[in-house]
Amino acid sequence: MKFAASLLTLGLLCSTLVEAGKFHPRTKRSVDDEPLRGGYIVEFTNTNTVVKASRYRSFVSTLGAKGHSVAVRQKYETEVFSGISITVQTENALHDIINDPNVANVWPIFNYKRPEVIKVETRNNKPDLYFAHNLTEVNKVHSVLGYYGKGIKVGVIDSGIDYTHPALGGAFGPGHKVAYGYDLVGDAFDGVHASTLHPDDDPLDKCGKGSEGHGTHVSGIIAGNDTAKGFLGVAPQATLGMWRVFGCKGSTPNDIIIKALEMAYKAGMDVINLSLGGGSAWEEDPGSIFADKLVGLGRSLVIAQGNDGAGGILAASAPGTGRRVIAAASFDNLALVMNSLTVSTLPGEVIGYLTDGDPPALADVPLVAVSNTTAVEDDGCNAITKDIKGKIALIKRGTCAFLTKVTNAQNAGAVGVIIYTKDGQAPIAVSTDATIKIPVVCIANADGVKISITLSKGPKITFGKDVVLGSIPTAGTVSDFSSWGPTNELQLKPNLGGIGGNVYSTLPGYLGGYGTYSGTSMASPYIAGSIALLLEARGQKHDPETVTEIFQNYAKPALIYGTNFTDNPIHQGAGLIQVLDAIKGTAHVSPAELSFNDTAHHVRTKTITITNRGKKQTIFHFDHLPSAAGAGYDVAKSGFTPVEPGSYDPAAAKVKFSEKFVTLKPGKSVKVQVSVFPPKANLTDHLIYGGYLVVKPLDADQKPIHVPYIGMVGNMHDLPLFDKDYPVIQNTDGSLVKPKTKVTYTLAGTDYPKVVLRLLTGTAHVKLDIINPRSKTVLGSLPFNPTYGSPVNFLARNTIDSIQGLSQNYTWAWTGYVTPKGRIAPVPVPNGVYYISVSALKVFGDAKKPKDWVKWLSPPLVIKRS
Ligand SMILES: *[C@@H]1O[C@H](CO)[C@@H](O)[C@H](O)[C@H]1NC(C)=O
Ligand SMILES: *[C@@H]1O[C@H](CO)[C@@H](O)[C@H](O)[C@H]1NC(C)=O
Ligand SMILES: *[C@@H]1O[C@H](CO)[C@@H](O)[C@H](O)[C@H]1NC(C)=O
Ligand SMILES: *[C@@H]1O[C@H](CO)[C@@H](O)[C@H](O)[C@H]1NC(C)=O
Ligand SMILES: *[C@@H]1O[C@H](CO)[C@@H](O)[C@H](O)[C@H]1NC(C)=O
Ligand SMILES: *[C@@H]1O[C@H](CO)[C@@H](O)[C@H](O)[C@H]1NC(C)=O
Ligand SMILES: *[C@@H]1O[C@H](CO)[C@@H](O)[C@H](O)[C@H]1NC(C)=O
Ligand SMILES: *[C@@H]1O[C@H](CO)[C@@H](O)[C@H](O)[C@H]1NC(C)=O
Repeated sequence: MKFAASLLTLGLLCSTLVEAGKFHPRTKRSVDDEPLRGGYIVEFTNTNTVVKASRYRSFVSTLGAKGHSVAVRQKYETEVFSGISITVQTENALHDIINDPNVANVWPIFNYKRPEVIKVETRNNKPDLYFAHNLTEVNKVHSVLGYYGKGIKVGVIDSGIDYTHPALGGAFGPGHKVAYGYDLVGDAFDGVHASTLHPDDDPLDKCGKGSEGHGTHVSGIIAGNDTAKGFLGVAPQATLGMWRVFGCKGSTPNDIIIKALEMAYKAGMDVINLSLGGGSAWEEDPGSIFADKLVGLGRSLVIAQGNDGAGGILAASAPGTGRRVIAAASFDNLALVMNSLTVSTLPGEVIGYLTDGDPPALADVPLVAVSNTTAVEDDGCNAITKDIKGKIALIKRGTCAFLTKVTNAQNAGAVGVIIYTKDGQAPIAVSTDATIKIPVVCIANADGVKISITLSKGPKITFGKDVVLGSIPTAGTVSDFSSWGPTNELQLKPNLGGIGGNVYSTLPGYLGGYGTYSGTSMASPYIAGSIALLLEARGQKHDPETVTEIFQNYAKPALIYGTNFTDNPIHQGAGLIQVLDAIKGTAHVSPAELSFNDTAHHVRTKTITITNRGKKQTIFHFDHLPSAAGAGYDVAKSGFTPVEPGSYDPAAAKVKFSEKFVTLKPGKSVKVQVSVFPPKANLTDHLIYGGYLVVKPLDADQKPIHVPYIGMVGNMHDLPLFDKDYPVIQNTDGSLVKPKTKVTYTLAGTDYPKVVLRLLTGTAHVKLDIINPRSKTVLGSLPFNPTYGSPVNFLARNTIDSIQGLSQNYTWAWTGYVTPKGRIAPVPVPNGVYYISVSALKVFGDAKKPKDWVKWLSPPLVIKRS
């Protein structure tokens, strides 16, 4: 048998108890969390118990009296969530928990991945600060309005912090910049084994090289201040709290994240920023439910939208998908802090480069271009025949991996490699591996082209150590790694943009003190800091939903890089945050984002409310700024396989307002109807059109308000779920079983079948059943798979490429067991012939209607144990 008995049974419990509404099966893919099996988060019913402590004791002792052994992990007690997290040994224990009248909800414990960043450059020991505040008006909020976040508490849930850093106050505790916090895990915590858990009251990150210093980087973005280096975060006078939930390596379980949220809430944080990730355009888990409840209690929550921009549309990441949570999109910064090199044939010019290693100790070394044209696509992807022995090779980025190019250059005898980017790309710190012994640096496309023009004069390269600022071609536009929305229900995600592409900020002392990282992880603390500035300016009493709307109202939509088209709200949300405009703005439009759904469920007209909160009577004029449509599919070429990355189409909707102008006295509101007429596009293409409603005050002091809207031409319900040739039966040696072929399995060793599913579109529900062909009856369901839960709920679509938050397929092994309907334990099937059926619910489908399910039947599978 492949899975532990407790898991097998869990499969059945899920199918019977989900209907009872108490058990929430796992819906998220997670990383290596097998030892967490038997771990559950239990929410108590909302009774008004006076003696709270006794609830935990009586819960545990009741289970003990029934003969279950229970290990207590965390206890929770807030207005919105009272409960406990535990580990039990048997499925019967779970059954007894679910049947306990004091229990409202039960969720399995699973792990969240460590947040990932894109490392740009960490070796800068002489930082000449460059920061993003020019793009977001934060510079003016500081210099003109004098707001620095004073009196606002920002809670960070992350990997710990090096508060000994001069920019972060130097110490921890009351009166210091980092005044609150706790280490819930300890350095050695591996995410799964309770024995590695060593909490203490000090969230210091002293992990040492090999760790990425994530929490220190995001803390600097929010509140860093280092006068000596000229470094200033978004809200340098805000007070920080750090609740450390990651050890030096590895992931962390959801019950610890919920505990950290609770601690941050109880410490009175006004804004909480949380480092969770995971691709799923759906998502329901206790973390996001708890997060959403905290917004209800008056705390702002900012969560990254995800770094899966390469994956195309419908790739919003959870729990940023939570309704009232701000999902942060990333925009690219203005400039990069780089090291410098000089070229003998370009006298007087200094060229910026990035490297993952130390600056190369090479001077006056001849350079040879591997290709004689800069229009090349696959430069250096094949063995290099040109004579580059003892020279530096100049190679263009593209087609194959950096490692391939650099290996080819090293094999041909080069002593170093300079990679130049493709047009429109900023340089990155190229990392290779231990097989590479020569230095590798990366420069901008324009610099690569400039050097190429002088090739005939025999350029020689000298690497320097000076720091230069390199401009980023894509500054102020959406970062290409930033994930596309919307959710599968066509709610708008992301909601708002911060600067996350090439952000220079603090790093722990063991990483040199400063460095540049990229990620929506950097954009979300940028927004958290901005909220602190607004709360200082406007008073802390603002409810978080209004705060979100204010920032969305005054955000600035960006163009798609290199075009005159406005980017779609499913890529940029309301646009890049503009903090001065948000603070000074005296008009308010609500709702601050609209979805007109697909054309089959089209809502023609919606109402927006405009309020004049200023002191002057103001006339408002209405306008429409269409965006390019998001083209998620290229149906003629690749059917309904979403294109990766997402593409665009010029199609735009027409918008009509019920009024042309409105005049509003101070303190007054007016409702205006907005009707949207979708573009006449081919329904098959499922274009996601969109744009911005523009509400323009006729007052030179006031900025226009933009309200993002989206809709789809076509019907989400029509989108096929299963990719062509999927599901499919795969043998453990990787070979695929052809349709209608009969295959025999002995179930000895690895001789068993696997069901592999590739989803073109997300589904809220998947069922896998074992069928007896002779009686044509459903014997029961395929036993529980620990990775996906059972039944499987809220699966994200798959991608062609393997990317950070999404997977290429879902796989279930069938080891000859079935969980009969209405029974507790799975049982082995007798030898014989079986089919596996896979059913999945279409988007917007009704689970009660058979026609809303798509079904697949496997070829006959013969079980013949020897
Ligand atoms: C940023 O703005 C300041 C003044 O507001 C200006 O001095 C500085 O040159 C700007 N930096 C860049 C790179 O635009
Ligand atoms: C930054 O720190 C320095 C030195 O402690 C202090 O003088 C300055 O006022 C701080 N800046 C802000 C904006 O608070
Ligand atoms: C570049 O090299 C290719 C062969 O690699 C050759 O066919 C072509 O003529 C060369 N172009 C120039 C401009 O030298
Ligand atoms: C679109 O319509 C479907 C079906 O009625 C509904 O389930 C979904 O929530 C709607 N989406 C939005 C954004 O209103
Ligand atoms: C904010 O949340 C994002 C993910 O949601 C995370 O990557 C980032 O580290 C967090 N920032 C802080 C300051 O906690
Ligand atoms: C954008 O529009 C301007 C003015 O209409 C034009 O000069 C420019 O070439 C356009 N750029 C692109 C990339 O289409
Ligand atoms: C819509 O697009 C599909 C797929 O490209 C094509 O087969 C069909 O003919 C198009 N329909 C119309 C009305 O153009
Ligand atoms: C499923 O995806 C994995 C990679 O995640 C791949 O190795 C495997 O071949 C895929 N199987 C099928 C049948 O697509």
